[in-house]
Amino acid sequence: MKRTKILDALNASAPAEDIRIMGWVRSKRDNKGFSFLALNDGSCLGTIQVVVDHTPEIEEALARIGTGASVAVTGSLVESPGQGQKWEVRGRTLEVIGEADQETFPLQKKRHSDEFLRSIAHLRPRTNKFGAMFRMRSHLAQAVHRFFADKGFFYVHTPIITGSDCEGAGEMFRVTALPPGSPEPAENDFFGKPSNLTVSGQLSVEMFALSLGDCYTFGPTFRAENSNTPRHAAEFWMIEPEICFADLNDDMDLGEEMIKYLVAHMLDTCAEDVELFAKWVDKDLMATLTTILEKPFERLPYTEAISILKKTKKQFEYPVEWGIDLQTEHERFLCEEKFRKPVYVYDYPKSIKPFYMRMNDDGNTVAAMDCLVPRIGEIIGGSQREERLDVLTARMDELGLNKDEYWWYLDSRRYGTAPHAGFGMGFERMLMLVTGVHNIRDVIPFPRTPKSLDF
Ligand code: 4AD
Ligand code: MG
Repeated sequence: MKRTKILDALNASAPAEDIRIMGWVRSKRDNKGFSFLALNDGSCLGTIQVVVDHTPEIEEALARIGTGASVAVTGSLVESPGQGQKWEVRGRTLEVIGEADQETFPLQKKRHSDEFLRSIAHLRPRTNKFGAMFRMRSHLAQAVHRFFADKGFFYVHTPIITGSDCEGAGEMFRVTALPPGSPEPAENDFFGKPSNLTVSGQLSVEMFALSLGDCYTFGPTFRAENSNTPRHAAEFWMIEPEICFADLNDDMDLGEEMIKYLVAHMLDTCAEDVELFAKWVDKDLMATLTTILEKPFERLPYTEAISILKKTKKQFEYPVEWGIDLQTEHERFLCEEKFRKPVYVYDYPKSIKPFYMRMNDDGNTVAAMDCLVPRIGEIIGGSQREERLDVLTARMDELGLNKDEYWWYLDSRRYGTAPHAGFGMGFERMLMLVTGVHNIRDVIPFPRTPKSLDF
């Protein structure tokens, strides 16, 4: 008999004579003459209750079963006389698929700390919280693609191995080939020049926006920044749309529409899992998400943001001066205390931004924007791109970049250049936003952070 997922069994519209459920035992309760099992198979948060009578075969199976064991039950789906569940399974057969030694199985029925669960990242998706997290992660990724597909964007697969450093921050992981028989990595041999893991697909996706129109890329990106914060990972996923014949305002409009769409989609598709986070992780989650849905985002020039930060009585650890890169404490103040909703800060000093951003008429600032959200700070970083060849090359010279290496990038400005803009959204930060989870290590299946490469 084919197995029925527990999600479908719990949502059944009618009883069923024959049903087969396969899953992991969350708990077992023995009574005189019968036992209850609560089974979960990962398809949803809930467990299904199974009742089995103590026949000799079933007693033998029950003796081998504890929390964490995998089992198969065949029986019938009947209305449950118990409270809190509509259906239960009256089991006729019970097979043990895989035992779990109760002495060593780490996930006993109690609340474990996030730190402990990080140390068993391979087992934590079996818990309620991380099961919910990784179902939501999957739904969120699919929602990203749906958002762009509905708007007619093309999905571009940009390379993971590159020769350039998009952000110019030098935070790259080197890629080296190990030729057969050689104990030494051959750094330059394979491609004929040094290569690294991409920090952003932007430069490549720009070429496609200037060919196909609106495009996006969505893939893993890598940063060797040694910042041990709850918001940074060495490997994270980034969503990078690039829109053509568009300016910074269009870019901010797109980012706002996308955040609102993703929040609405998650509330709609993953209601049960979102509720778990609202109940156990962040009591303000629903209020935060409602604000995001209902309020237009604030749009604030950097210069004004600085004057607000200077005027407030609040003491910051990092001193505020025109020209600084906003720190998380500044970002969080703006969106959590000052405006109490997401805030775009735009027109940043050119000195703290990469070469490709479009120079403003003041010659001092560039058409950059960051979107700041409560609890997280920066969730989106983007800009209108410099489409004017002469301004772009002058800026590259100023920054000491080797223009020959960017010959292909500059070609797009030589031949049929056009105004365009784009941004990068940290996928994990978006997931932190919709779950209320504070640490990026808890939204990635197997996180990569400094000094941590288990699993
Ligand atoms: O602001 P960033 O560095 O922008 C870029 O890389 C641009 N090239 C994107 C573009 O315009 N196409 O990064 C964009 C976003 C950040 O706002 C943040 O959400 C996320 O990526 N991010 C990280 N997320 C997790 N761990 C890290 N180490 C991150 N670095 C950036
Ligand atoms: Mg940024």
